[in-house]
Amino acid sequence: MVSKLYYKNKLVIRLIKPFENKRLFTALKLNIITIKDYGFWPKKLIALDAFCQTGLQWTRVFSDEAKYLEMWDINAEAIKFAKKEFPKANVNCGDSIDAIMNNKLHRKDFNFVLIDSPVPFMYPDGSFEHFKFFDSIFKNIANEAVIMMDVVPNIETMLAKHPHPKEFSDKWAAARNQFYNVSNGAIVLPLQMTEIYKNKVEALGYTCKLVTYNARNEHFGILTIVVSKK
Ligand SMILES: C[S@@+](CC[C@H](N)C(=O)[O-])C[C@H]1O[C@@H](n2cnc3c(N)ncnc32)[C@H](O)[C@@H]1O
Repeated sequence: MVSKLYYKNKLVIRLIKPFENKRLFTALKLNIITIKDYGFWPKKLIALDAFCQTGLQWTRVFSDEAKYLEMWDINAEAIKFAKKEFPKANVNCGDSIDAIMNNKLHRKDFNFVLIDSPVPFMYPDGSFEHFKFFDSIFKNIANEAVIMMDVVPNIETMLAKHPHPKEFSDKWAAARNQFYNVSNGAIVLPLQMTEIYKNKVEALGYTCKLVTYNARNEHFGILTIVVSKK
């Protein structure tokens, strides 16, 4: 399964290169360029990619810039390819959520954290997205850091594309109600969402220098938070 994806990604990269060279960038690349324009991109990049898979979709976008790169994925087959592709990185096969929450990462001064978590997906413990470990990310970062995470403004749009049983969507909506502290968690649009994350970050003892949403595609997007310890 992953090997099929790996070779597909290899092929896509080969095919897409001429287009990328013509400045038709991926969502992540554009997001990073934007953060650079703001002057918020770390000069000495200490990066954590907590859901890296093979790394061929996203990690490769910034890996060359990293002074230190730590990668995690729970899928052993994906990690086998990631190790091959990123020989200089600290590549780990394991549960990155547990690592983030229980001090198992190899550093505590990450200034870039990428959370490309699976969606739509319920973890074995019944949690969703980054909700369980969002606060714990802040135990692992430098005083100044950039965090990029997948977020879903409207789960109905996403579930129309990736159908799941009603029980799943009900549980997902309930988890969103709780995390975002809203009554209709199925839909949390970017303006509301950015305000909620800003308040969460401030409550964790950080100044939120920037919080912004950019679409990845028509189903979900990247939320970027730039923080500075108070
Ligand atoms: C959306 S994919 C990541 C794609 C990757 N960022 C890329 O650019 O190719 C989500 C990944 O999360 C991994 N995953 C799921 N639960 C995990 C966990 N608890 N710890 C680490 N990785 C996990 C899956 O194995 C999957 O590879």
